[in-house]
Amino acid sequence: MSTARLAAVAGRLALLGRMVLTRPYYGFVTGHAHLTDAQMSEVERAKDDPAQAESVMGAFERTFAAVVGDGQARALAGGRMALFTALKAFGVGAGHEVVLPGFTCAVVASAVLRTGATPVFTDVDPATFGTSPEAVERALTPRTRAVIAQHSFGIPCRVDELRAITSAKGIALIEDCALTLGSTLDGVTVGNFGDAAFFSTDHSKPLNTLVGGVLYTRDAGLQEEVDRTVRTLPTLPEEQQRRIIGQLRLERRLARPGSYGAYQCAMLLRSLTRRVLKTGMTFLDDDYTVERTGAYPFPARMPAMLARLGLYELDRWPREATRRRALLAAYLDAAHDTPLEALLPESYRDPRRDIVGHRLAYRHPDADRHRARMDARVHTAWTWFTVPVLGATHGLDSLGYAEGRCPVSERTGREVINWPCVVEEGCEAPLLAFFRDMARAEGTKA
Ligand SMILES: Cc1ncc(COP(=O)(O)O)c(C=O)c1O
Repeated sequence: MSTARLAAVAGRLALLGRMVLTRPYYGFVTGHAHLTDAQMSEVERAKDDPAQAESVMGAFERTFAAVVGDGQARALAGGRMALFTALKAFGVGAGHEVVLPGFTCAVVASAVLRTGATPVFTDVDPATFGTSPEAVERALTPRTRAVIAQHSFGIPCRVDELRAITSAKGIALIEDCALTLGSTLDGVTVGNFGDAAFFSTDHSKPLNTLVGGVLYTRDAGLQEEVDRTVRTLPTLPEEQQRRIIGQLRLERRLARPGSYGAYQCAMLLRSLTRRVLKTGMTFLDDDYTVERTGAYPFPARMPAMLARLGLYELDRWPREATRRRALLAAYLDAAHDTPLEALLPESYRDPRRDIVGHRLAYRHPDADRHRARMDARVHTAWTWFTVPVLGATHGLDSLGYAEGRCPVSERTGREVINWPCVVEEGCEAPLLAFFRDMARAEGTKA
């Protein structure tokens, strides 16, 4: 093993030790500690009872759709699959181009490539961390069939301007709401600006069903087209569903600030066991590049047990959304009159935006040092989009991204800082106190 690799491993182990010894310690996944034993049994029962599958799925889809607006929703096994399904329903395929941000996840690009279309990456808007209308306008060609408008970290992007651009050209607008649920721009909830929108319900996303995604649209014609395929899709394999239940049990017990170190130790152990025993996938790890191993169908429907779990989460959602708004407001308040205030993006001060916080985000010119300080209490390895098209396991080229293509995204990634807004109830105060200390200490030497 090279010295650099040894140093990296030692650094990781030291961080793991710190997570074990520091309580509370904060990650970006908050488990389901609130689920009762009876609710857990219901989730597990839904796995084995095909008779209730359709009614549970229908209830989840209706309830989810109602959180967004008056459109309809269909539940898939991942946000990426919802995007793929929307693109296919719009007739996107070979010879077409799809415009998407470089400041995104690899699975978004692979979903585009799997339709046969070419992804065209555009730069991020630093004021929102989302899709930039100016960059989109520059990227349009006669081959453009769809534009993906990404709302990052809970912040609505300038989606009204994107709507005007795409409508004028007859191009489909698809909102990527994977990181944003319930936020509004001018009183309109994100997801209602585009021809379609997709959401993620992965465990790090606003509504957590471990894995999952939702396709939402208010366009009845499109919905019919979507239903022609979605209704007949297979779901995730039984074995994978069993592993997801195992993960749910683990996260319910340990993915919380009081036991975050133990959670990370368990995750490390799981990943080692998986490598040695070659056990299959729990999460959707097959989509970070275009080629597939076929470990699960793509696209697939959401398993009914996850729809059952989603219904419990939706029950809690109104209260959760209020808490997340409040936590974001408390962060902003704590940054007030500190050197951090000047780093906060303008969108946090914009009265047109009502933000249900998912992560507090800002750019820091000395981000490595800032993150290193944060590591005392926050698992910054989970910061999103530190590199463009995050998670490209087979290299950026494999997803059609050429280094330097989106310079603002690349710089934003190097500088981005994330703080969680999804925090177990009752654990907010120590996090805010730590943030306040960090904000006040800004400008002083480490
Ligand atoms: C911005 C963005 N869009 C879409 C997705 C895809 O969501 P899913 O993991 O549910 O497929 C992700 C995943 O991390 C993401 O970060």
